Amino acid sequence: MNFQLTEEHLAVQEAAREFAQTELLPGVIERDEHQKFPAEQIKKMGELGFLGMMVDPKYGGGGMDTISYVLAMEEISKIDASASVVMSVNNSLVCWGIEKYGNEEQKQKYLTKLATGEIIGAFCLSEPEAGSDATSQRTTAEDKGDYYLLNGTKNWITNGSTASVYIVIAQTDVAKGHRGINALIVERGMEGFEIGPKENKLGIRGSDTHSLMFTDVKVPKENRIGEDGFGFKFAMSTLAGGRIGIASQALGIASGAYELAVKYSKERKAFGVEIAKHQAIQFKLADMATNIEAARLLCLQAAYDKDSHADYGKSGAMAKLFASKVAMDTTIEAVQVHGGYGFVKEYHVERLMRDAKITQIYEGTSEIQKIVISRELLK
Ligand code: CAA
Ligand code: FAD
Repeated sequence: MNFQLTEEHLAVQEAAREFAQTELLPGVIERDEHQKFPAEQIKKMGELGFLGMMVDPKYGGGGMDTISYVLAMEEISKIDASASVVMSVNNSLVCWGIEKYGNEEQKQKYLTKLATGEIIGAFCLSEPEAGSDATSQRTTAEDKGDYYLLNGTKNWITNGSTASVYIVIAQTDVAKGHRGINALIVERGMEGFEIGPKENKLGIRGSDTHSLMFTDVKVPKENRIGEDGFGFKFAMSTLAGGRIGIASQALGIASGAYELAVKYSKERKAFGVEIAKHQAIQFKLADMATNIEAARLLCLQAAYDKDSHADYGKSGAMAKLFASKVAMDTTIEAVQVHGGYGFVKEYHVERLMRDAKITQIYEGTSEIQKIVISRELLK
């Protein structure tokens, strides 16, 4: 383990920080309030290479390592977690899934556009009655010879109305259980594919979360990723890396709130001194900084494991479990440090507190991360 950041790492971190400050910060409060998708900002992120960071340059990606990705995710998430979830889904679920398991035709047709941000992707596993219990897929992909007939509903899909390409997990052979599930690439606009209304959410309100309805959608066989029945393993394997992205998002939300709390505590005066001079505030900052440092090390450990081709299922789950709790705890305390000002939108910390919550829910709830970790420990 060597967490000495290289010049390339520092350059990526700086570029992400600069982009977040100049392009994401202006308007972030309004986008949250009006649930406005950061369309222009996402376009620029694509142009700067933030949407396909780890993809091989021959498919239009940045060819970077996972550590660079963690660093960039942290910086973007400090300012706008609605933008960083788009980045996380596109990089670590959609691009990674197609690059790792797709065939050459699929890579040429889809990955080259996804990696440059020309189009964005969505990953569709969850259903109204299958969230944590992901093997209980009700969406069906009936084998009709040269195509699959797709029927069912997916819930809570990030990039639901803005994506052009959707990786949809569906059951082909019920008798085979999770070994009868497939992963299909569905294109926006295919006949019988409908997008439900945007969810009105507590946090990450700029991201567009929708349910998707499929009625007799004909998906060509060549759009299946991997062998017949590989879909559930595809989803699990892809999510193992996705959790490093969400862990880094949680880390960024926490460190963004911490930086605001430090700044405010040096400005605000109470009882004749800056509140930073009160030990109660100092101790809050000390706890925040210690937890954030530990979360950062877990994120980097998981990224290092992935980059060095070690097993990263457990370290990614640990990073997500811990960093998402740190995000929640830190943002609550950051609001407290701000007093009443923390409760209004102009000071940003209330938004970060609302955004933090989702990191304990999506890409596997904290309880699911504990299942993943304990199974690894006990096997
Ligand atoms: N890689 C490859 N295969 C894996 C795997 C991995 N990391 N983890 C499990 N599998 C395989 C198993 O080997 C098993 O296959 P075999 O029987 O052939 O060996 C198969 O998957 C089923 O595994 P389990 O028996 O462990 O399945 P389970 O029903 O006990 O469930 C679970 C395991 C961990 C709880 C899983 O269902 C899970 O992760 N649930 C959470 C779902 C989730 O994270 N959803 C996120 C949706 S995407 C999202 O949220 C995006 C976003 O917000 C931005
Ligand atoms: P449930 O599975 O019903 O869980 C309810 C509670 O029970 C949770 O606390 C859970 O931890 C607990 N629980 C369940 N089973 C167990 C168990 N065995 N042991 C202990 N506790 C348990 N999904 C996608 O596929 N793609 C996306 O892009 C996507 N984006 C999302 C964006 C947002 C804003 C949201 C809210 C969700 C998104 N999701 C997405 C769905 C998300 O992954 C699920 O909400 C999550 O996996 C939990 O599933 P559920 O909501 O059905 O909760």
